[in-house]
Amino acid sequence: MSISVGIVGVGSFGGQFVPLFRDHPLVGRIALCDIDGARLGRAAKQFEIAETYDSLDAVCRTDLDALVIMTQPWLHAPQAIQALESGKHIYSAVPIISLDSGDEMLEWCDKLISACTRTGQHYMMGETSYYRPQAMYCRRRAAEGAFGHFALAEGEYFHDIDEPSCSLRDVARRRWGSQWDPKKSGGVPMHYPTHSIGGLLSVMQARLTEVTAIGHAYPNDDWFHSDTESGNLFGNETALFQCSNGAAVRICEYRRIGHTGREAFNLFGTEGSFREGVDGSSHWITRHGSTRLTVDEMRDPLPPDVFAALHRGREADDHSVYGGHGGSHAYLVNEFVQSVAEGRAPAINAWEAARYFVPGIVAHQSALRDGERLKIPDWGDPPR
Ligand SMILES: NC(=O)c1ccc[n+]([C@@H]2O[C@H](COP(=O)([O-])OP(=O)(O)OC[C@H]3O[C@@H](n4cnc5c(N)ncnc54)[C@H](O)[C@@H]3O)[C@@H](O)[C@H]2O)c1
Repeated sequence: MSISVGIVGVGSFGGQFVPLFRDHPLVGRIALCDIDGARLGRAAKQFEIAETYDSLDAVCRTDLDALVIMTQPWLHAPQAIQALESGKHIYSAVPIISLDSGDEMLEWCDKLISACTRTGQHYMMGETSYYRPQAMYCRRRAAEGAFGHFALAEGEYFHDIDEPSCSLRDVARRRWGSQWDPKKSGGVPMHYPTHSIGGLLSVMQARLTEVTAIGHAYPNDDWFHSDTESGNLFGNETALFQCSNGAAVRICEYRRIGHTGREAFNLFGTEGSFREGVDGSSHWITRHGSTRLTVDEMRDPLPPDVFAALHRGREADDHSVYGGHGGSHAYLVNEFVQSVAEGRAPAINAWEAARYFVPGIVAHQSALRDGERLKIPDWGDPPR
């Protein structure tokens, strides 16, 4: 069975996903949508796609099976809900939504999950850390019971505001375009916690139940300061969570850090542990010693027909077929397309997505209250 997919938002990130969806063997029809006509025209020409739409309303009126939302992060949840209600399955870039107010983001999580329940349509959040090779390897080891009982998980996402390869100042200005205003600086680090939390929870298959957190304010910060719309002062936030499996989970979301960009986790169990080095290495460790792992050892194989379709026209040893963010893109696309074709909930459905996202919102609330220990809401599991 083949499916039809429309990609909404063909900016810098969305553009990376167009060929992966277009070339997937289960995708029989593909359309593009963007409100920026020049960008839409360029993408249609570059990827040789004839079917285009100039608004979300227009693409929602089509009979496409699924939409892929790659718009700016503050638009995601309302657009996903509109599209679910128009009868589409939805893939959305992370996060579920990004706003200054944690309470409003919690309300959007609730609305999103209600929309999935009401419509019976599926939503998947494209959390890249879920398909990093390190997470795939640890899921396999966890399934074998090789960790024993999980004792401690540590996740960190370091992305300094002025990281040379990806300045967050430039990203914000580009995404807001003509609406850019310096008051839009100073977002909350823990409002985007999915890269540090998602991979870990996918391995432990557990949820975070309580949190205590502290924030770090950089003196005289020109980005995180009180005269912004968020009023957030914290450039770095550190949280200690209680996990439902009994483990402690320490998460760092740092935007003011003298360090190269880093997305990594360590997982310590009573029988075995997994650690990532600062040099990008990965190790499986037991009482008897440690083994350094290669990316190819850690990665799950893609289905052979999918790999062949995405690899067509490339050199035999060209692994860029997997796409960016640790080679996660191809797996995200494959999981979503297969779930739609099979009529099942995707791995990172709305309920699971909330478990990767909501703990950060509550962690920031705790940091604002001097580390008060707070409970984390949960929406349960998706209906079977
Ligand atoms: N690791 C990751 O998972 C990761 C990395 C980078 C970006 N992202 C996410 O990807 C998303 C897109 O990021 P980007 O850098 O490409 O942004 P971008 O600003 O370059 O692109 C967004 C595009 O959406 C279009 N758009 C906005 N509203 C629209 C509408 N109503 N209908 C159709 N098109 C519309 C814009 O015109 C623009 O072309 C963001 O939400 C971001 O959080 C995730």
